[in-house]
Amino acid sequence: MPESKNTKRYTVTAALIYANGPIHIGHLAGCYIPSDIYVRYLRSIGADVTFVSGTDEHGVPITLRAKKEGLTPQQVVDKYYVQIRDAFEELGISFDVYSRTSRQIHHQTSQEIFSTLYNKGAFEEETTEQYYDEIAGQFLADRYIIGTCPTCNNPGAYGDQCEKCGSTLSPRELGNPKSMLSGAPPVLRETKNWYLPLDKLQPGIERFVNSHPEWKTNVMGQCQSWLKEGLKPRAMTRDLDWGIKVPLPDTEGKVLYVWFEAPIGYISATKDWLIQKNGSDEGWEKWWKDPETRLVHFIGKDNIVFHCIIFPATLMEEGTYILPDNVPANEFMNLEGDKISTSRNWAVWLHEYLRDLPGKQDVLRYVLTANGPETKDSEFTWSDFQTRNNSELVGIYGNFVNRVAVLVQKYFDGKIPQTGPLDDIDREVLAELAAFPGRIAQSIGNYRFREATALIMELARLGNKYLADTQPWHEIKTNPARVETILNIAAQIAGSLAIVSEPVLPFTARKIRTQFSLPDQQWADAGKPDLVPPGTLLTESSLLFEKIEDSVIAAQIEKLHKAREQNMLESKSVQEVKPDIQYDDFAKMDIRIATILEAEAVPKSKKLLKLKVDIGKETRTVLSGISEHFRPEEIVGKKVLYLANLAPRKMMGMESQGMILMAEDRDGSLTFLSPENGTVWNGGVVS
Ligand code: 2FM
Ligand code: ZN
Repeated sequence: MPESKNTKRYTVTAALIYANGPIHIGHLAGCYIPSDIYVRYLRSIGADVTFVSGTDEHGVPITLRAKKEGLTPQQVVDKYYVQIRDAFEELGISFDVYSRTSRQIHHQTSQEIFSTLYNKGAFEEETTEQYYDEIAGQFLADRYIIGTCPTCNNPGAYGDQCEKCGSTLSPRELGNPKSMLSGAPPVLRETKNWYLPLDKLQPGIERFVNSHPEWKTNVMGQCQSWLKEGLKPRAMTRDLDWGIKVPLPDTEGKVLYVWFEAPIGYISATKDWLIQKNGSDEGWEKWWKDPETRLVHFIGKDNIVFHCIIFPATLMEEGTYILPDNVPANEFMNLEGDKISTSRNWAVWLHEYLRDLPGKQDVLRYVLTANGPETKDSEFTWSDFQTRNNSELVGIYGNFVNRVAVLVQKYFDGKIPQTGPLDDIDREVLAELAAFPGRIAQSIGNYRFREATALIMELARLGNKYLADTQPWHEIKTNPARVETILNIAAQIAGSLAIVSEPVLPFTARKIRTQFSLPDQQWADAGKPDLVPPGTLLTESSLLFEKIEDSVIAAQIEKLHKAREQNMLESKSVQEVKPDIQYDDFAKMDIRIATILEAEAVPKSKKLLKLKVDIGKETRTVLSGISEHFRPEEIVGKKVLYLANLAPRKMMGMESQGMILMAEDRDGSLTFLSPENGTVWNGGVVS
């Protein structure tokens, strides 16, 4: 391992995910599986390590989800906390504690750190104008304001971002802003908040970042780009009613900024762990304040600035904490050619995977690691999942371990034989075996988990090659003593394989350990020629991996597409109700019943039909964008609702007078609003 500090104590954190939805494979590949591999490895080398995580239960993402689901924020976080925690546990993510930021210990810890900074004068108080919803009676977070994007004119852009063109925005840039709470245009109102002056802290932050040239290039790249741009003061309090109260007088309606308190959640989680274990948090400081402890944050790339710049700045200002030693952030994992998206339901959800493919935790762990987005975005496909399972886990790894067990059973009644005199091929394979644990350790210690996984498979391949070269099934007929040596060595390879692959494949490793009686052996024992002592009696074991059939893969792909289609239908059906209008606004519309007399396509237009309609006193010409939905001949004679006093518009060089009213269905199909009653007369007025 790279030793930037001579220490054996580690505080390893995995991002506190928002408790506003379930976990998907992108989260797993980005942060949770790598961190678990790292921690399992550290435990195996005997390091003193704590592995903390939990849910982030504050901030606007939670309140938005609550609004969407028709629940209270508390109900949302309670629901997802349990679902997320249980899914991680089932996947074998071995947190020492899975805490939550709603716990008392976290509120207290965050408020203490805020107060320390406040008392040191670390914050700058600033009064600014923020958007306020007078009807809802509250200030509006950026996400709660919607308006027209200045870049692409999308009328549904959010106050922080336009999802259509991707521009980062601030609420004041939006045209025609509206509150998502009441629909009313917000007003600007003065409010006081406390800012961390990152601009003034930049020199110290720069020294800290630059003291870590070993950080991954994707991480360092983002840091340098923020630093080059010049850091700006950032408000550490927000006007919001969901979160941790600001511990200052007269701050009703203000909470700590979620990105101020969430990373402090790692500290609170450590205390929570000790409280659960020992009944008190005594001794928590050694994990956070002892310079001999190494702090490592595992996160996805969207969290880099918070962990490399803003949280360290908070800790530096506080003054008594250690700073992160490394932040091995991953890039993103895409899915079947598209970005993973919760809102579009384009994801493989962990809780569904565990239900649909029971007992296949290690397959997912393996595939997401072998193809992890370590240096650039990567892609998950179900076809690659199947190939890696069938060719690598079944064909190479499982096949090797199974062959050793079957041959030892067949020739030696399940008892590991002695070695006799060694041949060159034996010495060579033992030398190679001895080098593997160090090589794999080097990869894991440097956060190169893909490489570690490839090496694990290389070790299994070495075992298969050794059996193929030495051919014990032929030797047994003429030279059974030689087979004793061969199978002893093969068993050493299998035992070592279990130990070094345990961080990636913990469920499989446990099976092999049981089968080869290796309950307590650790990393240092791997690669040794006497790891599995002669005389060890192998116990029965189920197959480590089984082939995944095409039908299983096809079902998953179909499920993915169906979920997306369903989501599109649902999102269409739940459009927000527009802001209220007054009766007078409605009464201005002159809606009549009209009969379509003629209909014809408009040359050179894909969408328009030219209609002649009888409205009682006169006939009108209307251009209607319905030609993708109706053939002209099928609508002639129809009675329809017609908005008669919509100002005329020119289209394709013709004047369109008024508008035919239509209803749009969930799937985007159009229906005329036609009076059923045959006695209605043209020109009948709707009121
Ligand atoms: O991106 C997220 O889901 C954030 N809640 C991560 C926070 S990590 C840490 F700061 F707690
Ligand atoms: Zn835009």
